[in-house]
Amino acid sequence: MKSRYGIDPRVDPEAGPDSPDRKFPDIEYETRIHDDHEKYFSDECRRLEWDRLWTKIWHIAGRTSDLQKPGDYFTYELGPESFIVVKTGDGEIKAYYNVCHHRGNRLAMDNYGNVKAFVCAFHSWSWNLDGSLRRITDRETFDEKLVCDNPGLTEVKCGVWGGFVFISMNDDVEPLMDFLGELPEVLDAYDMDNMILAADLETDWPVNWKTVLDAFMEGYHAHIRHPELLNMIDDFHFQHDLFKNGHSRMIIPMGLVSPRYPNRDKLGEEMRDLVRSFGMDEKKYENNASSVRADTPAWKREWAQKNGMDYSRFTDSQLADDWNMHIFPNITLNAHPEGVLVMRFRPHASDPERCLYDFWVLARKVSDPDYYLPTYMGVPKGADLTGNAPRPERAYGKWGEITFGPVVDQDAETVPFVQKGLHSRAFKGVRFSEQEIRLVHMYAEYDRYMKEK
Ligand code: FES
Ligand SMILES: [Fe+2]
Repeated sequence: MKSRYGIDPRVDPEAGPDSPDRKFPDIEYETRIHDDHEKYFSDECRRLEWDRLWTKIWHIAGRTSDLQKPGDYFTYELGPESFIVVKTGDGEIKAYYNVCHHRGNRLAMDNYGNVKAFVCAFHSWSWNLDGSLRRITDRETFDEKLVCDNPGLTEVKCGVWGGFVFISMNDDVEPLMDFLGELPEVLDAYDMDNMILAADLETDWPVNWKTVLDAFMEGYHAHIRHPELLNMIDDFHFQHDLFKNGHSRMIIPMGLVSPRYPNRDKLGEEMRDLVRSFGMDEKKYENNASSVRADTPAWKREWAQKNGMDYSRFTDSQLADDWNMHIFPNITLNAHPEGVLVMRFRPHASDPERCLYDFWVLARKVSDPDYYLPTYMGVPKGADLTGNAPRPERAYGKWGEITFGPVVDQDAETVPFVQKGLHSRAFKGVRFSEQEIRLVHMYAEYDRYMKEK
């Protein structure tokens, strides 16, 4: 189990079978060059993905925090489709295709809002929140044969976990909790149901959704793309866990200097910032950076208590490390007790070499208005996290025109060149290392979907 540095990558080798920290059994995958890389650019693959993957699985469409009272709704765009997710008068959450049965107009145009009914902006047909037809304008001018079915909105399956609303276009999809497998259990302590949205950004990238997702599924590139992070993470000793249904986890040890660096006790700027975020005395760690990780659980517990939060259910690893989760196929979570960074990678409606990349920051609700999140959550001081403020407006950004923060900017610079290189006649296929095992696992599941007729 020990690496070339003599380190066991398991975060808690003593973890029992009920501990969320436990190392899940490895899966033996066939060793091969993945030479099906046209899936990153072919239009045929884009179409097959729509038929065999996107229309078959569960998707995270949005957050329950946008559905607090009857009539609250949000829309979710995926490839060529759009969906409305709404809280009905009975307090139920329902989801529909966002399309008018008259001539096909989109019914709801806004990202989120509150309505009494959905009224089409073209000729004002309208539907109730429960999806039933409310009114066909000038109904007597239609031959009754055309409208006698009183078309209701077309419903899609809907489920909730962790404050996320999932939808599926597949009537025969497995129950949501079966699909999620081990994830609810290992993430239970984070109590994401009660987190609020602290940032909401949608961006447009000139790469396939998988090209960019892949970069967030492994830490192998950190030493060269994010060298400054090596002052605060051990980039070589991640615990990788492969879950059911293509989901996975990598636990990134934080509060350690990379073993690739000769002096693991040197306190770099990034680690100093981490120490300061929790009000700790940085002097104590000046030439002793290697003890930050071991001390973090105790500071965080104390810090949480000061801020009125209960951290008693978190394990030491959950307190100290970055739990990077993958929800198959296109969601990653960087889970910390203080908040969760959610990334969602959506296929473009028609271009396999573009995608939409969403960032949400979920934060724990804290009643003290002066409370702020640690720097690495990327939410500026002053954001209202009391739960009383309106949700942040969705911001938009285009690759190349905005900054995504220093770390993601480094990935952003790289991935379009990967996208180009994948087309080369000289490129024979992808060769995955053990450090990229989550990608092997994800693509095994992806292939299962893509082979199903
Ligand atoms: S397209 Fe919606 S009412 Fe005509
Ligand atoms: Fe990266």
